[in-house]
Amino acid sequence: MQGLREAQSSELRVQSGNKDALLIVLHSALCVSFHAALTQRPIRLTMETLIIGAGGHGKVVLDILRAGTKYRPIGFVDADPKLTNTHVGGLPVFGAIHLLGRLKIQHRLHAAIIAIGDNRTRAGYVKNVEDHDLELINAIHPTASVSTTALLGRNIVVAAHAVICTEAQIEDLAIINTASIVDHECTIGRAAHICPGANLAGRVRIGAGAFIGMGANIIQCRNVGENAIVGAGAVVLQDVPAGATVVGVPAHIIKPGNG
Ligand SMILES: CC(C)(COP(=O)(O)OP(=O)(O)OC[C@H]1O[C@@H](n2cnc3c(N)ncnc32)[C@H](O)[C@@H]1OP(=O)(O)O)[C@@H](O)C(=O)NCCC(=O)NCCS
Repeated sequence: MQGLREAQSSELRVQSGNKDALLIVLHSALCVSFHAALTQRPIRLTMETLIIGAGGHGKVVLDILRAGTKYRPIGFVDADPKLTNTHVGGLPVFGAIHLLGRLKIQHRLHAAIIAIGDNRTRAGYVKNVEDHDLELINAIHPTASVSTTALLGRNIVVAAHAVICTEAQIEDLAIINTASIVDHECTIGRAAHICPGANLAGRVRIGAGAFIGMGANIIQCRNVGENAIVGAGAVVLQDVPAGATVVGVPAHIIKPGNG
């Protein structure tokens, strides 16, 4: 509009001048209008996204989605009835997961992400999302470094400053938390959690549902079994059996596994 107004007043000014000048002025004004239309009207490329889980991890995921431009978080669902009708990070907590169908229609939802810290609970919500034909998205913070040769599944969270190196494979529902390092050719199993500041050397294999505590270090080529727990700050030099808990430097078993 502004450009067209400029064109009209320019037209008046050149009425007594030659026709070529008028055409040039009109042309440039139309270019300005077109440019203004392009730059002033936001182009909607974002996907309306629901966050499942309004606890600490849900807040982290909200932050990650807001740091990018691809997804537009519209709110949360959470199993805790105390959170219903409250706000988290400025967004509404609508209620529990049974609202998914209604929310999908009301908010034109396309996508969801399950943002629950507990590994088993997180995995338990996949069917709800699939039953409603919503896309399970990944949340990758713009400051994270993810190798172009890494393979990522669905519903993966890669938090700020995390690093995923070449040919690493991250399976569905895994969390690669703040400033953790997953080095070359590591495999992170389904719904595993690599906590903030943990470091995995090359070719480490983490089983499904395993929990690697804050600041833990695992040397190269070691295997951590399914649902095992590595305590905060541990240095893992040996394989960890499935279901076992290990702590300390070097790490030792404090709870036996199921093997
Ligand atoms: C390993 C862990 C899960 C153990 O929890 P737990 O099963 O409740 O074990 P307890 O607290 O009963 O501790 C059992 C023993 O292990 C020791 N211990 C526990 N965690 C330890 C750790 N990280 N490093 C060294 N020793 C540890 C305790 O001091 C206790 O020793 P004691 O028997 O001599 O008194 C927990 O301590 C831990 O490290 N969690 C990681 C937390 C984390 O990284 N959170 C990040 C969330 S994003």
